[in-house]
Amino acid sequence: MTTPETLSCWLSNTKLFPELDFDRFNMRIATDRYTSAAFQQHERDAIWTRVWQVVGRVDELPETGDWKEYRLFDQSYVIVRGADGVLRGFVNSCRHRGNKLCEGKGQARKFTCPYHLWSYGLDGRLLSVARPDLVGPLDKAEHGLLQVPVDSFAGFIFLNPDPDAAPLADCLGPEVVELLAPYRLDEMTPVGLNVRESLDCNWKVVIDAFSEGYHIVGVHPELLKVIVLEAGKNRFGFFGDHGVACAPFEVNVAGFGPEQQVEGIRELPVTFPSVAEVLPRFEQLVAAHRSADGALQFPDGVTARTLLQQATRDTLTAKGLDVSALSDDQMSDNQGWFLFPNFFMTIRAGEATVIMSTPHPDGDPNRCVWQVTSYIWLPEALRSQLRAPLVEVEQPGSFPYFLALQQDYEQMPRQQKGLRNQALTHLSLAREEVCIARFHGVVDRYLAGPA
Ligand code: FES
Repeated sequence: MTTPETLSCWLSNTKLFPELDFDRFNMRIATDRYTSAAFQQHERDAIWTRVWQVVGRVDELPETGDWKEYRLFDQSYVIVRGADGVLRGFVNSCRHRGNKLCEGKGQARKFTCPYHLWSYGLDGRLLSVARPDLVGPLDKAEHGLLQVPVDSFAGFIFLNPDPDAAPLADCLGPEVVELLAPYRLDEMTPVGLNVRESLDCNWKVVIDAFSEGYHIVGVHPELLKVIVLEAGKNRFGFFGDHGVACAPFEVNVAGFGPEQQVEGIRELPVTFPSVAEVLPRFEQLVAAHRSADGALQFPDGVTARTLLQQATRDTLTAKGLDVSALSDDQMSDNQGWFLFPNFFMTIRAGEATVIMSTPHPDGDPNRCVWQVTSYIWLPEALRSQLRAPLVEVEQPGSFPYFLALQQDYEQMPRQQKGLRNQALTHLSLAREEVCIARFHGVVDRYLAGPA
């Protein structure tokens, strides 16, 4: 068993980017996989109806009878918390003549189909039928709702449409579970940003966009001050279908002295809003290095980065979050986690931002639905008070994302427009985009079918 201390340092010790064996990856990606209806149909059958996927948060359904619908292409499922506290998933179809049982989300003691009033318990059992005299002999035990596997990890609800799916824990693998455990994601709450809207791009364009840092040079030039994009410092780790990447977070303009480094940290909340709560402690730590005449000088081993790490550790500890199993790097560096097929998350101590994209229910491969949610660790007493409700954006372009996200939001549909040009047959990936190659390799493996 690996110790937490070793796990927290794992990414700091894994392979550096230049050490990867790039011959393992196909760096040419065919463009029709972003635009072809036939390709998307293949994905539907070989991936989406067979894999574990995030469908919500456990704390969305806290009480007995709380339920929500999950739509996938033309498929619909309902997830409900039973009287025994267990979350279950069912195909959202009445077993009489197939009527859809429910839409959206709600609270129920049982599900009653509005067509002919057959009723089902929260555990899916058929409880009663209207006018049994008109129905005739019926084995109720054989007419319960069709169940699909549902499980949870790190506070997220996962559903697999395949009733014969292997357990979620097998799909995630032990490394993913152990490496993410110290962050205590299950205790985090959506705060500030919790948005879902349709985007005019294929779902994989979103995954690709958040799988590489190379586009920072063109789309987010302001981030170059705080994210180290040197090949010799970036690290990657791959676990089964999933993976993690990390570029160190550091005020990083050559020749910056202490004052300029500190100023760089002060500007961070524009892009990373949650840094704001750490700044008061950061300023205290900085002040300790000023001489009587106000000059700022850092001793060897101290930089604005190390003071930010200390300020983050102190601030989170004072809030009540035990960060003893997290390394100093995890206080400052965003790790970019990807869980196949569509879950991307940047995470550092005390906070995470999750971006998911799913194929659009209308089946158009040029569209998808994305959901972006920022999570912050809060003491339990504050969680329900500060929880951000999900905002469904109806008018494209009307939601004010923070700067970096707005830049990505505008970029992705632009890429889809270019991908639709038929003369462009393939993409040529840069080595820094190796996570994209890895993702598409996993897609291809599913499309090829069981070995
Ligand atoms: Fe549901 Fe008839 S279809 S009761």
